[in-house]
Formats: sequence, structure tokens, C-alpha cells
Amino acid sequence: MTRTTPPSSPARTLVPGGAPKDDMDLQLEGTTALITGAASGIGRATALALAAEGVRVALLDRDAAALAETADGCRDALVLVADVTDEQQVRTAVATGVAALGRLDAVVCCAGVSGPVGTAIEETDLAAWNAVFAVNVTGAFLVLKHALPALRAAAAASVVLLASDSAFVASPGMAPYCASKAALVQFGRALSVDLAGTGVRVNAVAPSIVDTPMSRGDLGSAAFDDPGFPVQTAAEVAAHVVYLVSPRSRAISGTSLLSDFGYTARSGFPA
Ligand SMILES: NC(=O)c1ccc[n+]([C@@H]2O[C@H](COP(=O)([O-])OP(=O)(O)OC[C@H]3O[C@@H](n4cnc5c(N)ncnc54)[C@H](O)[C@@H]3O)[C@@H](O)[C@H]2O)c1
Repeated sequence: MTRTTPPSSPARTLVPGGAPKDDMDLQLEGTTALITGAASGIGRATALALAAEGVRVALLDRDAAALAETADGCRDALVLVADVTDEQQVRTAVATGVAALGRLDAVVCCAGVSGPVGTAIEETDLAAWNAVFAVNVTGAFLVLKHALPALRAAAAASVVLLASDSAFVASPGMAPYCASKAALVQFGRALSVDLAGTGVRVNAVAPSIVDTPMSRGDLGSAAFDDPGFPVQTAAEVAAHVVYLVSPRSRAISGTSLLSDFGYTARSGFPA
């Protein structure tokens, strides 16, 4: 019996132990995705990561100038300037995006705000509370309300909601944000049940601190110089999102991927 050695290819890499391993084909080439909050941070990183996988991306954000910078890094991107809290703007943006893309295989909802930080609840204005829910919860509802007909028409579709570990654990002084992220997680779970059997999956990603303009704005940039807590990059979170968008995760729906270095698994008992 003769043994042949497979030809080496750029897609094969050596892993520890020396065994060759094929890079995973995420099967995203030629698909489409709409990403909200794409002008900054995790949304921008997700747009770049999906575009690098051959996904045609529609980028939605209210910040037109920063959105154009993201588009520069993505091949053939569509730019949709809209405020996710405004139903008319969302309706128009989603319709424009779907018409230009021709189909819609994925929606990633990253648009978010942190709202009041360090404000006691009895000092929190109703307007500030409502503003957090308007973006973080109602924004996702509006985008998905208008995107769902196109997602249902796809052979298989994926929705990924950018929640937070704040949906499950809390840091002091961020009650409106924590409550909004818990609502977003449960919205995603409920939607996954409503859509069971339709081919549309819905999942959430729940990271702890990610180095983005949002977290630097909340904590101050000095907090990232020598942080006493684990920090991940927006590109690392984007990789989680890309996996959940990919048909490689086709059995996964109704889940929240906690991306928190294992912190929420730990008991309060100091053993
Ligand atoms: N940075 C973190 O530590 C962290 C951790 C967990 C979860 N998250 C979540 O990840 C998501 C992205 O956060 P980020 O850190 O990249 O923040 P970011 O501030 O860098 O980006 C948020 C983007 O959302 C856009 N946006 C806000 N309100 C909008 C509106 N009404 N309409 C349209 N666009 C709007 C902003 O213009 C911005 O481009 C958010 O939902 C956030 O809550 C962030």
C-alpha cells in the first residue's frame, strides 16, 4: 500500500502537537448581513470580520461620518444612516438595505448606549431610563420587526443580539443598562421560540468589558492602561458573532453566549 502526502495549502496550519488542521470554512461567502451600530466598536469589528468572510454587509448607524470609515474597510458595503429608535428611519433603512442586497441572511444588533453610570436610581431621570431602553431594547425590536420578512425568506438566517454580561450580573451604578440588557436577552429567547421551525435562529452574545469607545467613555482610558480585570478586543467579540451568524452554528438558537472569562461561573465561597 502506498501512502500519499497531501499537498500543503495555505488553509492548513500546524497546531500544537504538530497535526495539520484545516481552517474552518464558515460557509459565509456570498451571503448578506445587516449590522447596526456599525460605526464603532463591536459593530465595526463585526462588519469588518463578516466582510472578510465574503459577506456583503449593510452598515446601519446614526453616525454617518464614522459609518463611512467602516465602509472603507469592507468590500462593496452599503451605508444606511438611521437612528434605531425611530421607526420610520428604520423602516426606510431596512427596506433600502434589503432591496440593494437582494436577500438578507443575517442581522446583528450592536447599536447600544450605556446611559447613566454611577447615578443612584432615585436620582435617575425618567428620560435617561427611557433613552437606554429605546436604543438597547426598542431599537433591536424595530430593526427585527422590519427585517424579519426578508430573514424568513432566506433559506437559513441568523440574528445576533449584542447583549452584555450585565444581563446576568451587575456592577454598581448601572441599573438601567443592566435591566435593558436582561430585557434584550429575553427578547431574543422569546423571538427564537416564535421563529422555531422557520429557519431563522436568534442568539445573544454577552461579553464582559470590551475595549471600545463606549467602555473607555464610561471607565476612562486610564482604566485600560493596566486593568485589574480581563479585557477583550472588539475583534475577539466579533469572532463570536461571526460563528453565530455562520451555518456552522445551525443547531444553536435561543442561547446567550457568555463571553466573560468564566467570571459568572464562580461561587461567592472563597475556596
Ligand atoms: N464595550 C463593552 O465593554 C461592551 C460590553 C458588553 C456589551 N457591549 C454592547 O455591545 C454593543 C456595542 O458596544 P460598543 O462598546 O461597540 O459601543 P460603541 O459606543 O463603540 O458603539 C455603539 C454604536 O452604536 C451606535 N448607536 C448608538 N445609538 C444609536 C441609535 N439610536 N441609532 C443608531 N446607532 C446608534 C453608535 O453611534 C455607535 O456607533 C452595545 O450594545 C453594548 O451595550 C459592550
